[in-house]
Amino acid sequence: MKKSKRIKKSNSWRIKHHRDQFFKKSKTLGYRSRASFKLLELNKKFKIIKKNSYLLDLGSSPGSWSQIASKIITTGKILSIDIKKMEPIKNVKFLNCDIFDQSTKDKITFFFRGRLDVIISDMAANTTGNKSLDSIRTNQLCAEVLSLSTKILKPKGVLLSKLFMGEDFIEIKNLAKSTFKEVDFFKPESSRNESKETYLHCKSFKTL
Ligand SMILES: C[S@@+](CC[C@H](N)C(=O)[O-])C[C@H]1O[C@@H](n2cnc3c(N)ncnc32)[C@H](O)[C@@H]1O
Repeated sequence: MKKSKRIKKSNSWRIKHHRDQFFKKSKTLGYRSRASFKLLELNKKFKIIKKNSYLLDLGSSPGSWSQIASKIITTGKILSIDIKKMEPIKNVKFLNCDIFDQSTKDKITFFFRGRLDVIISDMAANTTGNKSLDSIRTNQLCAEVLSLSTKILKPKGVLLSKLFMGEDFIEIKNLAKSTFKEVDFFKPESSRNESKETYLHCKSFKTL
């Protein structure tokens, strides 16, 4: 076998093994997807979710991030939103709609009544097969969530959002830095090395 073919084969084995390892673990623990481990790691690092948090989960389906939030939050509120359907989770209110519709924003405002502590967004655009285009489209979602957060999040609130280290990464980083006092990035171990996915963590609006 040619060397390039051997490297390709061993890389695809590593990716599959990484995926399977977290997939099996999530099934054993009763989580709906391996994305659960990303939020567990992110929450361990940034201590985002508290037992009394009022939390909005964007792009929540199939629901593993909402499952984790519902285990931690006992006296707060959780609203989860996705354009795809999601099976019910105890203590989680789900809306099957597009986050960028005006009617959705009105429903969020009504649900939290001015106290939204945390937004977590794992939203990703539908994949087209073109990695660069997919990355731009998902980063566009992240930029839109950053702008939405200024209208619905409380002044000292926290935003956590997926984004890709693509060509528009710096643009989004600058947008985050012009909006929030604290801006960090973290790539969880459970996110594949090969993937350009990372997470943006922002806290406290600059206008304070
Ligand atoms: C990677 S999945 C999220 C996985 C989820 N965090 C979990 O733990 O189960 C990304 C989700 O973003 C959703 N999404 C993409 N664009 C959206 C939009 N405009 N409004 C609401 N949801 C959206 C997709 O339907 C998809 O279910």
